[in-house]
Amino acid sequence: MNEIPLIWVINGPNLNKLGSREVQIYGNKTLTEINQDLSKIAETHSVKLDFFQSNHEGELVDLIHKASSSKVSGFIFNPGAFSHTSIALRDAISTIKNPMFIEVHLSNIYSREKFRHFSYFSDIALGVICGFGYRGYFYGLKYLIECINGSKKT
Ligand code: DQA
Repeated sequence: MNEIPLIWVINGPNLNKLGSREVQIYGNKTLTEINQDLSKIAETHSVKLDFFQSNHEGELVDLIHKASSSKVSGFIFNPGAFSHTSIALRDAISTIKNPMFIEVHLSNIYSREKFRHFSYFSDIALGVICGFGYRGYFYGLKYLIECINGSKKT
């Protein structure tokens, strides 16, 4: 029997504050609500999700190091502010053979301050989704599932 693919949903610093943090930018949904909706999508597509959020760079590095031994098929990653600063997290992802991940941002980072326009992850991600609020996670998950199932259409 084929194993059910495992996908991680990883969120970086301050994303545990979704729903109350700068709602005009990030919206009203909490991370728990977003993750519940993602679980429903996963159920209908027969994939398993594990959720992680940390405000600590080192914890995220340690987590990513476990991806290969945990047989993770791919991950959705919103690195938060670490997007714009963290060579350490980029290097952690580069320890994975053929990393399959989608970079997600709720806000359109290109319409915001200049320091948000650069991300250390975009060129090594399968794709980048930004500016669609919480929906970005859903779109990212659906695309990742297509990639994992080998049914991606260009
Ligand atoms: C963010 C954008 C980042 O610039 C910011 O630091 C965040 C959230 C987003 O989801 O829009 O914390 O990643």
